[in-house]
Amino acid sequence: MSDLIKQAAVDLAGSDNVVVLTGAGISVESGIPPFRGKGGVWERVDPMEYATIDAFMRDPGRVWDVLVREMKNCIDRSRPNDAHYGLATLEKMGIVKTVITQNVDGLHQAAGSTDVIEFHGNFAWLRCMECGQREETRKIAMAEIPPRCSCGGILRPEVIFFGEQIPTAALMRSEQIASRCDIMLVVGTSAVVQPAAYMPVVAKNSGARVIEINPERTPLTASTSDYLVQGKAGKVMRKLVEEIERLR
Ligand code: OAD
Repeated sequence: MSDLIKQAAVDLAGSDNVVVLTGAGISVESGIPPFRGKGGVWERVDPMEYATIDAFMRDPGRVWDVLVREMKNCIDRSRPNDAHYGLATLEKMGIVKTVITQNVDGLHQAAGSTDVIEFHGNFAWLRCMECGQREETRKIAMAEIPPRCSCGGILRPEVIFFGEQIPTAALMRSEQIASRCDIMLVVGTSAVVQPAAYMPVVAKNSGARVIEINPERTPLTASTSDYLVQGKAGKVMRKLVEEIERLR
């Protein structure tokens, strides 16, 4: 086992106020591709053309067809992996308080985490752009694209497109808990999309330690993180939880 996993286990085992920030990388081992990097969604789909609110309003059918349908297929097939389960276990052990996630796949909740701030919304629900009626995404047949509400309005996913505001409650609570935690654990995010990427900086500036888990370095690695545990989230979290259980 790497020395840094041992170090992270000691640090985490000694805290009862850890806040976690997760990104697409934590769900890669669940079969959901990341956005950036090799095999990432933005390699095939231009986000400026398909992931902005302007693009969606201009032509919702095109955005559903190229981006949203594929997301639905991946999310429908996905199951939590050892990293999601590991964070839920750390919550049960009283170590992790809250998970702030940029992901919209609902896998943290499926694994058993109970306090999850969904920074970019959740794909589990669609909302009618005309009457506001909500529908469960998994119950919607994809026979018609874009899918429509019974009133005839177009359904949109309850996720944040580029150009939309982060829900105020999610943003304010995230900043508050980031400024009060002992440790921020940052798992599987490239840390380039704001304001999510700012949360570890808030934590650091307030005196917390910042621990990253990622196969690659990120902009946080040199400037903000105390250390990077290099590796895939599922594999690292499995070893980390085993080690913490041994220490406690
Ligand atoms: P990215 O796709 O930008 O970054 C994924 C990160 O996961 C990278 O740093 C990878 O090195 C890392 N990674 C890959 N495989 C991994 C594994 N098995 N275990 C751990 N890490 C792994 O995803 P995000 O940082 O989440 O926003 O992207 C932030 C936001 O940009 C998303 O929420 C989305 C996107 O555009 C919106 O749609 C608004």
